[in-house]
Amino acid sequence: MGKLMSSLRVKFRAMLSCLHPLLPKLVVPILSTCPASFSSQNTQLFSHNIPRSLSPSVSGFRGPGFCSGGSSPACLARGFASERAMEQGSISYINQRDAAEIDELLMGPLGFSVDQLMELAGLSVAASIAEVYKSSEYNRILVLCGPGNNGGDGLVAARHLYHFGYKLFVCYPKRTPKTLYTGLVTQLESLSIPFLPVEELPQSLADDFDLIVDAMFGFSFHGKPRPPFDDLIQRLVLLPNVDNGLKRRPAMVSVDIPSGWHVEEGDIDGSGIKPDMLVSLTAPKLCAKKFIGPHHFLGGRFVPPSIVEKYGLRLPPYPGTSMCVRIGKPPSVDISALRENYVSPELLEDRVMADPTDQFLAWFDEAVASGLREPNAMVLSTSGKGGNPSSRMVLLKGVDKNGFVWYTNYESQKAHELSENPHAALLFFWNDLNRQVRIEGTVQKVPADESEKYFHSRPRGSQLGAMVSKQSSVIAGRDVLYQAYKELEDKYPDGSLIPKPDYWGGYRLTPNRFEFWQGQPSRLHDRVQYSLREINGKQVWQIERLAP
Ligand SMILES: Cc1cc2nc3c(=O)[nH]c(=O)nc-3n(C[C@H](O)[C@H](O)[C@H](O)COP(=O)(O)O)c2cc1C
Repeated sequence: MGKLMSSLRVKFRAMLSCLHPLLPKLVVPILSTCPASFSSQNTQLFSHNIPRSLSPSVSGFRGPGFCSGGSSPACLARGFASERAMEQGSISYINQRDAAEIDELLMGPLGFSVDQLMELAGLSVAASIAEVYKSSEYNRILVLCGPGNNGGDGLVAARHLYHFGYKLFVCYPKRTPKTLYTGLVTQLESLSIPFLPVEELPQSLADDFDLIVDAMFGFSFHGKPRPPFDDLIQRLVLLPNVDNGLKRRPAMVSVDIPSGWHVEEGDIDGSGIKPDMLVSLTAPKLCAKKFIGPHHFLGGRFVPPSIVEKYGLRLPPYPGTSMCVRIGKPPSVDISALRENYVSPELLEDRVMADPTDQFLAWFDEAVASGLREPNAMVLSTSGKGGNPSSRMVLLKGVDKNGFVWYTNYESQKAHELSENPHAALLFFWNDLNRQVRIEGTVQKVPADESEKYFHSRPRGSQLGAMVSKQSSVIAGRDVLYQAYKELEDKYPDGSLIPKPDYWGGYRLTPNRFEFWQGQPSRLHDRVQYSLREINGKQVWQIERLAP
């Protein structure tokens, strides 16, 4: 149970960090004090993508009136008539002026510094890349950094990608001599990340890199790229755009705007770069509508509700604690072509533990330590007297030499099947560790006092939920559950004891076979089986290797 507690602690930490997006609500009252006389037409460009010295001073900023509630006629009108936030599907795309204005607000009345925004932007880029391009396949990354803040985002992304396990190279030909940038360079140098001069880049970038990050120009860019960036952009354009069968082309990722594209019109004459991934920051810019690559992500999880409201932004919610979210559908895939090449430590039959439960606990600890979500989720397969198997997930709630315990409804389908046939199988799949564990054995109910104890350790909501649900029976609708729940809530007010229903309790599977599976390259996986054999009248675990 101690092991299960540590998985609960991981979840609790994740819950706490989910709270932080709510915090920006606190700044709304500050914003509502800004004068309402602001005219956005008068706003000069000010973005975290241009050097701060070129930006209008924050103290001279005249902010627009903000709505803190959103229900006043003015707010509603702004929400409806927002021509600024242009939608494709349900997502807003913003123009260059609004992008600059939003940055100005963030770094003015909203209290952010450019360093903070850059750190979060770079982290979002790195997180998006790691989500799509695994370091086992796309290990060598070249980051092309421009002179402004887009380049700074690239430097930050390079640092995070290094820590995520990639091998980084940076090309930063026009360095900005400001403390923020020199600090970022020092950080990368301290990680021994090589800075490659443009003239030392290999002629064909496709030979030496698996992925190229284009962090040259952001949304404040106007006009034509100057040397050496014109040449770098040209090299990206000339990257082979198909896999020639012998060599995979490097993936190309653009930060916020594909360099050389018009911020609103996109790749005007069709001769610009065609990235595979675009990581839009804060909100996608209008040019992103023209992006046709397979992976469009949004990053910059710092936009407070007041900005969302003012600009009528529709942005996808970020999942859990993630720093990035995919925009639009993931690319369709050929299921038959989906394959992973597993790289794992060896699992050798003469090195595993003598007792399979000890071996299971060692792997379980590693699954918990690696931060997997619900490492105690397992597939339970049963079959009744008809012999038809059925599977479902349940949660492991206890494990020791006596067996594996889970809790459920004694009138459910699985319970009926177990009453007819007490043989069952469990399966754990720990994807990130390339591991599965199969366990087979016989099942019996746990003693009533054990179920009773566990029932009362559950949150009250779960206790009432267990009472309400006639698990696996057909019901007329969700309302039936709500109604029954409500009645029970009234019947058992806070502090009163909720009795465990007789139809709810635990099962314990006593194993007679285990198999530990560890994925290995070229499908030469390790499979180590433990089976119970009787030797000299004693039950002993025999360990054997199985062919993959
Ligand atoms: C991750 C996960 C964990 C679950 N854990 C349990 C559990 O511990 N006990 C349970 O009765 N149902 C659990 N369920 C629901 C079961 O999968 C299933 O829907 C339910 O038990 C009814 O199954 P049956 O009709 O085959 O009896 C879980 C589902 C998921 C996805």
